[in-house]
Amino acid sequence: MALTFSKIPGELLEKFNALEEKGKYPKRKSMLVPALHIAQEHFGWISDEAVAAVAEFLELSPNYVKGDASFYTMFFMDKPGKHVIQVCHNVSCYLEGAEDIVAHLERKLGIKCGGTTPDGKFSLVTVECLGACGRGPVVQINNREYHEYMTIEKIDSLLESLE
Ligand code: FES
Repeated sequence: MALTFSKIPGELLEKFNALEEKGKYPKRKSMLVPALHIAQEHFGWISDEAVAAVAEFLELSPNYVKGDASFYTMFFMDKPGKHVIQVCHNVSCYLEGAEDIVAHLERKLGIKCGGTTPDGKFSLVTVECLGACGRGPVVQINNREYHEYMTIEKIDSLLESLE
C-alpha cells in the first residue's frame, strides 16, 4: 500500500509510490534495487538520507539497505565527482586493453581507481560487463553515456570535452 505520510521528500515519495503502483513486485522488499536507483538519481549518491528514505519506504533496516547497495557497482556509496568515468574491466574489455585505459586515466587524473579528483570533477571506477562486449574497451560516463572501442587518444579527447 502506498505511503501517504512520511519523512521522505515529496517528489521522491511520489516516485517510490509510482514504482509500487506498477504492481510488478510481489513483495515490497523486491523493490530494493529499483528504489535505490530512484534514490541515487534524487540525491546523486547513496547518502545517509537516501538509505533512510529507501529503508523507511520498504520497511527495512538502514543497515540492510546499505549492505545491499554496497554490493552493486552502479550505486555510489561515497559522493562521486561531477563526472563518473566507469571503465569495464570484464574479460572482453580486459583483452581489448581496458587496463591500459585505467592506468592512463589514473596517471592523467592523479587518482587511483575508486577515487575522486580533489576538485570534485572526476571519479574513476571499474565496473563489470556493460553489455557491449564486442565493442570494447567500453567506457561509460555518469551511468548513461556509452563510449565504445576506447583508445588512449579517444579518452584524452573525451576528458577534454568534459572539462
Ligand atoms: S566485457 Fe566489457 S562490455 Fe562486456
